[in-house]
Amino acid sequence: MKNSLHKEFKKIFNKEAQKVYFSPGRVNLIGEHIDYNGGLVMPCAITFGTYLLIAPNEDNVFRFRSLNFEDKLDIPLQEDYVKINTNWFNYPLGIINFFLKDGHKVKGFDILFYGDIPISSGLSSSASIEVATAFAINELMESGYSKLDLVKLSKSVENNFIGVNSGIMDQFAVTFGEKNKALMLNCDTLKYKAVDSNLGDYILAIINTNKPRKLAESKYNERVQECQAALKALQQELNIKNLCDIDSDTFKKHSYLIKDQVIFKRARHVIEENDRVKLAAIALSQNNLVEFGRLMYASHDSLRDLYEVSGKELDAIEEYSKTDSDVAGARMTGAGFGGCAIALVKEDAFDNFSQKVIRYYTNKIGYAPTVYRSLIGDGVGELIVK
Ligand code: GLA
Repeated sequence: MKNSLHKEFKKIFNKEAQKVYFSPGRVNLIGEHIDYNGGLVMPCAITFGTYLLIAPNEDNVFRFRSLNFEDKLDIPLQEDYVKINTNWFNYPLGIINFFLKDGHKVKGFDILFYGDIPISSGLSSSASIEVATAFAINELMESGYSKLDLVKLSKSVENNFIGVNSGIMDQFAVTFGEKNKALMLNCDTLKYKAVDSNLGDYILAIINTNKPRKLAESKYNERVQECQAALKALQQELNIKNLCDIDSDTFKKHSYLIKDQVIFKRARHVIEENDRVKLAAIALSQNNLVEFGRLMYASHDSLRDLYEVSGKELDAIEEYSKTDSDVAGARMTGAGFGGCAIALVKEDAFDNFSQKVIRYYTNKIGYAPTVYRSLIGDGVGELIVK
């Protein structure tokens, strides 16, 4: 892979790449729509991701190219930048903009990106490209940001430059991910533990619905606002900073403070989901995959009925999984509105599962999903050229 990317870089820029970096995508095992409510999540970095090849230039120009998209950008170094339509290169442009506005010197660079994360699949290709760019520029310009700074600045670019009010989970997972580990992350304190993702006889399948995610961003921002409204209502009596500061029992006692039924449902999902992550962590530490799977199904059902971010495509995958005794659990992962589901599948039954879920989904939805065997990999880093 690296060799052919080097050749492409040379073909495009007529010189050698100086460095190659890789930043992964992520799946979230459980804890969905929790990060911007200050609770617990359990993401892992995956082995799909973004490759970034880079060399400085003497022209004070940023040249962004991608092997995935035809659109390209050549833009001179200037004081600041604004988003250009909805092009992919807004992610690296937003990162450069952040460095400059934060008072760091940046010189011109030629950058080639290649991603093997399926596009619009909800596996965080955006966090992956943001963190890849931030990591590379930070190293080459010796800007002195810590890894946690890179997470925070990438999130800030997503929120303020791109305009999606996402939480911190994705950028955190692609930066701090570790091979064969899940991150138990507290999104309020940003403290985390890398726990063994020992799945015993099971492996993790990723099922891409292949449904284009239309309206995802505006619906996402709507959910963020609904949670803020729920928090405000509860704060009339409770001294809390985040929705996830209370558990389901406390919520039950105070839920009368929320008058709007839709806002109530959103809050109930968030608070119960946060409780489920705690139970899931215990189940994983006891290698109790059956219990872990049960919690995954419960998470999906809540995202479908209370948070209303699933859809018939993601639901079809969960529905099929519940009928297959080789599957411990399944759920949508990420923001929802299309994208991917994950399933815990007995390793020796993976091919069978894959064929059957494809058949079930295709009959019901009219086109096929794509099924991957997921490997849990490391977070962002340089790929050393041997
Ligand atoms: C998207 C966002 C994350 C998180 C998930 C839902 O991936 O980028 O911050 O909110 O959705 O859990």
